[in-house]
Amino acid sequence: MSHHDERTFVMVKPDGVQRGLVGDIVSRFEERGLKLVGGKFMQIDDNLAHDHYGEHEDKPFFDDLVEFISSGPVFAMVWAGADATRQVRSMVGETDPAESAPGTIRGDFGLDLGRNVIHASDHEDEGANEREIDLFFDDEELLDYERIDAAWLYEDH
Ligand code: RTP
Ligand code: MG
Repeated sequence: MSHHDERTFVMVKPDGVQRGLVGDIVSRFEERGLKLVGGKFMQIDDNLAHDHYGEHEDKPFFDDLVEFISSGPVFAMVWAGADATRQVRSMVGETDPAESAPGTIRGDFGLDLGRNVIHASDHEDEGANEREIDLFFDDEELLDYERIDAAWLYEDH
């Protein structure tokens, strides 16, 4: 697998879906040059919510977080590209939208820590990207293809 194919998991949360932000968010990653390799519009059940946010089970906000993430449809995606996990996190912004720079997704679309529009795998948590992809997608749901503009996106294509 080439270093252009690092994969990361991204999800528009229920607030982002309700606020009509799916299209804008998808566009940002497309325009950056990342490659969409999987997408699923779905509602997260209680089990999946607990598995996905398991790292936070001892935190005081855990119950609210699980309830919120399963409260309505989400758009789960896998994006691939060079350094994808870290690059997507930088496009997402800080956990708290109030601390996020304008130009980032949370900095442009959010004001409240508990309604921060989007989830993305943590680049500082080794393997979180592949773990989360496995949790949400079967292998056959992830497509292998090349963007037609790949040679214009990467000097070493
Ligand atoms: P996410 O996992 O949702 O992409 O967010 P993140 O990595 O930026 O932040 P994380 O530390 O993983 O926290 C998960 C979600 O929990 C909520 N949160 N509430 N009340 C609080 O102190 C608090 N801290 C975090 C946020 O909605 C955050 O996205
Ligand atoms: Mg996180």
